[in-house]
Amino acid sequence: MKNGRKIALITGISGQDGSYLAEFLLKKDYIVHGLIRRASTFNIERIKHLLNYPHQDEKLFLHYGDLSDSGSINDIFAKTEPDEIYNLGAQSHVRVSFDVPEYTTDVTGTGVLRMLEAMRRYASKAKFYQASSSEMFGKVKETPQNELTPFNAQSPYGIAKVFAHETACRYRDAYGLFISCGILFNHESSRRGENFVTKKIVQGVAQIKAGLQDKLYLGNLSAKRDWGYAPEYVKAMWLMLRQKKPSDFVIATGETHSVKEFTEAAFKRAGIKNYKNYIGIDKRYYRPNEVNLLCGDASKAKKVLKWRPKTKFAELVNIMTDFELENLDIKKLSELKNKTHV
Ligand code: NAP
Ligand code: GDD
Repeated sequence: MKNGRKIALITGISGQDGSYLAEFLLKKDYIVHGLIRRASTFNIERIKHLLNYPHQDEKLFLHYGDLSDSGSINDIFAKTEPDEIYNLGAQSHVRVSFDVPEYTTDVTGTGVLRMLEAMRRYASKAKFYQASSSEMFGKVKETPQNELTPFNAQSPYGIAKVFAHETACRYRDAYGLFISCGILFNHESSRRGENFVTKKIVQGVAQIKAGLQDKLYLGNLSAKRDWGYAPEYVKAMWLMLRQKKPSDFVIATGETHSVKEFTEAAFKRAGIKNYKNYIGIDKRYYRPNEVNLLCGDASKAKKVLKWRPKTKFAELVNIMTDFELENLDIKKLSELKNKTHV
């Protein structure tokens, strides 16, 4: 606490969830510290509007560090003295985790161990949120999946998340630390990274609508996911740290839809008929192991956290598609105004 205000430390603050969470906590008058990585370009596009939020000093601070680097993590803990830690940083792309398995294991798995060790030493009274994932269920053993469903991870990313999740749970038991894990199912938004399937689809649809692209190439269209809306999911993270006791919670909509359904709905929203004419399959986007079906049961979160998903599949597709259509390059659009696929 500083001057009666809570202090939060967020890893992954430059990502989709980190940006929404920072916004959410700043509105609640937290002092927010975020860990960012050095990159050759300044990678804070999603949070730059928050840097002077709301035009006062002492609100949001960014620190260079890396989940692969214990020294930087320890320093940030010692410097910032957080009340709440939200560990969202990760190499979070499943397909890419097959290309860089060792790196993914280090950052997404061992990185969590580094964070927990820092908490144990420097912030043992703090509360810790771990970003666990429905990808841990992998080839699912039951449907829908809840907090007791056995894990069966299929990717280096999923395996790293299982290691992180189990380590977080054991640190909670062994050291009596307040650590809660959110097992979040897929959640999307206009801030979603461009190489995740929902964002890739809506961007492709907008480009096709504008005549800037002929086809959208995808991988496995039959995979099914439980897709929710990211801003609602970060509120669940905060609610988990408001409870008397730490625990694990599934956060999901309870609906599952295929990549094909998402694609069809996005083309429809853009007013493009015969969407199949604009889709190509590229095997490069297939994974060595696929997770075919995810569908979450968030009953525990509904009961204990009083959390509910508001935005369901159809509305999510509309929000994301409309955003891309509204943000098309107007100049290029007017050059291409005679081209239409409708
Ligand atoms: P994201 O947009 O990919 O953001 C990942 C964040 O982690 C970025 O800020 C990234 O920094 C940072 N990061 C990557 N490598 C790092 C490293 N070595 N050291 C420090 N930071 C590093 O992911 P997201 O969708 O917001 O997801 C947030 C968390 O929830 C992740 O842990 C993800 O695995 C987990 N999760 C996500 C979903 C989902 O559907 N979105 C579902 C379940 C769980 P740069 O900006 O520099 O790359
Ligand atoms: N990325 C991508 N690109 N996926 C494709 C494509 C494509 O061109 N075509 C089909 N897909 C299929 C994938 O094979 C997968 O079955 C599904 O679309 C969703 O892929 P992603 O959007 O990349 O997400 P994900 O489910 O693998 O992982 C996301 O959700 C996890 C929670 O279950 C990520 O956000 C993870 O970080 C998160 O933990």
